[in-house]
Order: sequence, then structure tokens, then C-alpha cells
Amino acid sequence: MPASIVVGTQWGDEGKGKATDYLADRMDFVVRYQGGNNAGHTILAEGHTLKLQLIPSGILYPHITSVIADGVVVDPRALLEEMDGLSAVGIDPSHLAVSGNCHMIMPYHLELEKVTERFLGKNALGTTKRGIGPAYADKAARIGLRIQDLFDEKIFRAKLEIVLREKNLVLTRVYGRLPLTSDLILDDYLRYAERLRPHVADTSRLIHDGLRAGKNVLLEGAQGTMLDLDKGTYPFVTSSNPVAGYALASVGIGPREVERVIGITKAYVTRVGAGPFPTEDTGPEGERLGERGREFGTVTGRKRRCGWFDAVIARYAARVNGLTELFVTKLDVLSGFDSVKVCTAYRADGTLYEDVPSHQSLFHAAEPVYEELEGWDEDLAQVRAFAELPAAARKYLDRLQDLAGVPIGVVSVGPGREQSLSADATSHRDDA
Ligand code: IMP
Repeated sequence: MPASIVVGTQWGDEGKGKATDYLADRMDFVVRYQGGNNAGHTILAEGHTLKLQLIPSGILYPHITSVIADGVVVDPRALLEEMDGLSAVGIDPSHLAVSGNCHMIMPYHLELEKVTERFLGKNALGTTKRGIGPAYADKAARIGLRIQDLFDEKIFRAKLEIVLREKNLVLTRVYGRLPLTSDLILDDYLRYAERLRPHVADTSRLIHDGLRAGKNVLLEGAQGTMLDLDKGTYPFVTSSNPVAGYALASVGIGPREVERVIGITKAYVTRVGAGPFPTEDTGPEGERLGERGREFGTVTGRKRRCGWFDAVIARYAARVNGLTELFVTKLDVLSGFDSVKVCTAYRADGTLYEDVPSHQSLFHAAEPVYEELEGWDEDLAQVRAFAELPAAARKYLDRLQDLAGVPIGVVSVGPGREQSLSADATSHRDDA
């Protein structure tokens, strides 16, 4: 059986957790492939609202093995807290496997991110302050500590002392902070190690064997294409690669294993933190999108910036991820607007761009070119079949898939599992 990839097509918060949860029924493995506890999935299932940051949403299903693959940076304390939170509502986290190759977020990563963001002042990125960037930086600098290091105390202590010497110099001499003590960190992390031990596995082998045995594997990205370190709006991005291609490197499987690449696309667009956002609406309509969509960050509680659907980035996401289908979320939020706008191209420096301009200055200057479509008033929360959607909403979706160049597979109209409507990509076109 092949693998499927779920990837965000915008700046994160597209509703990937919901899509994964919808697809999970048919899956045997759900694998998280990058990011850390900067992501946040809110899932409404069996009467519980669950906020997951590291653990894939497949954990809600006892038949699924949830996996955290090599490319994720793990704050062990956050992971254990999340596991405890699941146990507290009766969900057994024992079928979670974590790669020993995952790099760990250490206390000095959190401390350093705090001071460096402050140091950047008005140029700050607006990170989630979870230590993600500093942990990935150490991974690339080859001074990171991995989960497997926890299981050899001598190695762990030696590596920690070397790194901490340099980190403490930076903290004390550059930023005037107090130094951190290796013994305290060691005590905490060795305690975490004991609890993590049963979950640590050779996840690459596990997934490979699963695929050979005909199992279904869902690879779940965090954040979104426009926050990708290489393909996003650098430097206003996260420090990992949410794009579909990275799933393979992180898990350790080849491209021929993948059949579907599902792009999660909110029916409008949001962004948290700093950086360009061509379709941002800072007026009353944007405000209304934020209120109706309850657009506050799952991790930091920050108010999200809101704007209209951007077909330029949708086409870009389709191209750089090789999307096979779209999963459109939060269509219900658009009810009640007289008209709904869709950005079909940008204008920058007197030129029309139908694709993301390759130079950042043009992207920063991009003015959206809008097409206005008829709105609809009906509340969509009770709609249970694609054909029951108001004609104007179906027309909107048709336009989205035409502009993106990718068929829509599913549309969701609310947070519940039953509010995901399967949209056979062609059947709804006749009467739209
Ligand atoms: P970091 O990932 O904490 O380093 O933050 C870098 C940028 O990515 C900031 O603009 C964050 O707001 C953004 N970001 C990180 N994770 C998410 C997410 O899950 N959803 C939306 N934005 C995110």
C-alpha cells in the first residue's frame, strides 16, 4: 500500500489536524515529519476538544501507530505532558513511536530564542518561542543532542557539557543572562528518558516494514508551504521544511512509495507572526473572518492575521508539493458575506504575476488582483453532503480548484468529524 502526505498550502493553521483525523480511519500509521511543539492541532472527537502539538492526531485511534519521525525536534517535557493530557481523558498513548534520531529542544534553546527575538526588536520574526529555531540551528551545526543520546549517560553528559560551555558564554556575556547548570538539565532529561524509553524505535524500519506489509501510512506535516525554510517567505518562516518532499527525508522512504499528496487549504487565509501576506484584510471584513473563524493561535493564543483566498500561493503550493488533491477547510466561515474575494494574481512594480514572484522584494510589494464572487447567507454547519451546499458556495469551490489547478477531494464546514463532506471532484460541476 502506498503512503499519503498531508501538507499545509498556506502559512499554517489550515486545519491539517482535522484532515488527518478524517483520513485516519483508513490508516495504520500516522507520522509527523517536521516541526515541533510550535504546531497545534485542535481536534474535536468523541466529545473532547484536544489540543495536540507533537503527537499526530492518529493517536485517537487505537488501531493506529502514531510516529514521530527523525525530522521533528522534540521537547521531551512537552511530549510527556501531552501524553499525560491524553491519558487524563482516557486516550492511551502507548502506541506512540518516536525516532531516536529526533533532535531535542533543550532549556538553552528556549532561553536563547527569548533573548534573540528581543534583540531583533521590530525586526523580530514573531516565533512561537518554543526553541524550534535554535534546536534546528544546532542540528545543522552538528552540536545537537538527540533522543538516542539520553540512553548513554556518559555520552549525554559529555555532549551536554561541551555545548553548554558555549551556550553559557553567549547567554552571560552577550545577553547578560544567568548561566544554566548542566547537572540540573541532566537530572531532568534522564528522568524524561526513563518515560520515553518504551516509545523509542527505529521508525524508518517500522514504516518501511509497514509499507511492505501493505499497511496505509499517512505522513503529516506541520505549519505550511509558505512557512517552509526554503520554499516560504524567508526569513519569515519556520526552521524546517513542511513541504511534501521533506516527509521522505525525515521518515527515510523513497518517493515511489507516495501516491497521494493532499493539500490542506483554508477557504480564506491566515498568518501568525511577521512577514508578507498579500491578501491580508486589515479592515472590518478581515476582522469578521477572524471572529467567525475563531482565529487565535493554538500554541500562543495570538490573534491571527486574516485575508482572502490566494490562488497564487495555492498554485505555488500545488507545484512545489506535487499536490494530487485539495482538502478545503472552514468553508462555513464565509457565510454571510455579500461577496467573497479570490486573489487570482498579484501586481507588483507595474507587472502582473500569476505565480509567486521569485524575488522577495516583489512579494513584499505584491498587491492582490481580486475577482469577486457572489456570497451566500446559509449557515453551512448542518450540511452533510456536498450537493446540499448552496449554489454560490459550490461555485466558489469550483473557482478555487480551477485557479489552483488541483481537484477538491473534501470540504469541511465545521470542526466535527461529520462536517467533512466528500466532494467527488467532477460530480458537482453540472449544476454549479
Ligand atoms: P517558529 O516555528 O516558532 O520558529 O516560528 C517561526 C514563524 O512560524 C512564526 O511566524 C510563527 O508564528 C510561525 N509558525 C510556527 N508554527 C506555526 C503553526 O503551527 N501555525 C502557524 N504559524 C506557525
